[in-house]
Amino acid sequence: MMSTDGVSTARTEAVETAMGDIRRIEADLGVTRTGVMAIRDRLIELSGRRELFPLDDFPAPAPDDSQTSFMYRLAQDADDRFALYAQASRGHVETPPHNHTTWAVVVGHAGAELNKFYDRTDDGVAESHQHLVEAGTGVAMLPDDLHSIHIDGPALNFHCYGLALERLDRREYYSSTDGEWKLFSSISGIREARAGLRC
Ligand SMILES: [Fe+2]
Repeated sequence: MMSTDGVSTARTEAVETAMGDIRRIEADLGVTRTGVMAIRDRLIELSGRRELFPLDDFPAPAPDDSQTSFMYRLAQDADDRFALYAQASRGHVETPPHNHTTWAVVVGHAGAELNKFYDRTDDGVAESHQHLVEAGTGVAMLPDDLHSIHIDGPALNFHCYGLALERLDRREYYSSTDGEWKLFSSISGIREARAGLRC
């Protein structure tokens, strides 16, 4: 069994190698359906290194915390491109239908995250299909693709984007209560999980 430091070093190397491959995939295939599916497959390969992502390293919020999930940053380029996060959830977590304005990939590691996909209609959205993301599976989206996520934790999933979440301030979501499209505020409060930057 690897030491804690050994796991951290091996994880850093494995993540850097995967993100290098993902940069190359995007350069070679572009932001295309084929390209994002190849990125998804590379992240499934990374998440298969289960010994590198022990759940204790990515704790979900405590039961008395008002938050039900934490995002841990595993990778992000200096220009904020190619960001990888681990989302640790407990209890119920869900989002309304939304786009990302960049490509997005979700890959399972522990637990399950139901992804519902939608088509944009004149008066909102219509669900087209679903995919239950669990260990060994994932989904890949182009910038305009619409999905919602539904988790009944505990769960740990990987989320990867072409641009860091703090920079995604034009993501649209459909509010079914108000019957209109709105903008998500960009996400803050991400926990640093890169070696040497952990706080
Ligand atoms: Fe999303």
